[in-house]
Amino acid sequence: MMEHQSAESPTVVRLAEYTKADLEEILGTSDDPFGVASTGLTWLPKEEHFGVRLEGRLVAHAGLLRLPVAIGGAELEVIGVGGVAVAPDMQGRGMARLGVTAALTHASTLGPEHALLFCRPPLVALYQRLGWHPLDEDVTVEQPEGRVVTMPLKTMVTPLRDGARWPSGPVRLRSLPM
Ligand SMILES: CC(C)(COP(=O)(O)OP(=O)(O)OC[C@H]1O[C@@H](n2cnc3c(N)ncnc32)[C@H](O)[C@@H]1OP(=O)(O)O)[C@@H](O)C(=O)NCCC(=O)NCCS
Repeated sequence: MMEHQSAESPTVVRLAEYTKADLEEILGTSDDPFGVASTGLTWLPKEEHFGVRLEGRLVAHAGLLRLPVAIGGAELEVIGVGGVAVAPDMQGRGMARLGVTAALTHASTLGPEHALLFCRPPLVALYQRLGWHPLDEDVTVEQPEGRVVTMPLKTMVTPLRDGARWPSGPVRLRSLPM
């Protein structure tokens, strides 16, 4: 038997809440589990949470929430995806795909036509593999005390229904980033 082979298949679960202990169960204790502390940004917690369980253990998470955004002249909502995390010993085995797919399946029932996420540049190719597209234009986000800053991470989007087209024009998130 292969060393990592497990008797059970991973199960996707909707989590009623997602605590710091849950995050630490996945990524361990770290000051900067997502590698984004150097941005100095303040982030929003996510409102809905999807987990992947394997043999009683929480091994992956993806969160989402509805966010107001201006794109060109239009004011609309998108589904922000964030907190995507997979336990280090379980990475590279499709766990992010499972968690993000579950989050997007739910997101597609909420109304907005697009989902949006921010990621470090090395993860762009991974999210492209999951069907996301990088935005080339700058994206601004809100920060405390009414500050508006240009997001230093890459912004990626994916449609939530057939035929949805990302509107053209500058993208201004009307909230903290997620
Ligand atoms: C980023 C992270 C979530 C990825 O999790 P993972 O479980 O290893 O990802 P998966 O195994 O589901 O891979 C997803 C897909 O990307 C592909 N992929 C992985 N690395 C890739 C790369 N460098 N280039 C292109 N595709 C890549 C995989 O092959 C897989 O595609 P497939 O399902 O068609 O085979 C995980 O490394 C992690 O938790 N990192 C720390 C926290 C973090 O940085 N989170 C990101 C916040 S935006």
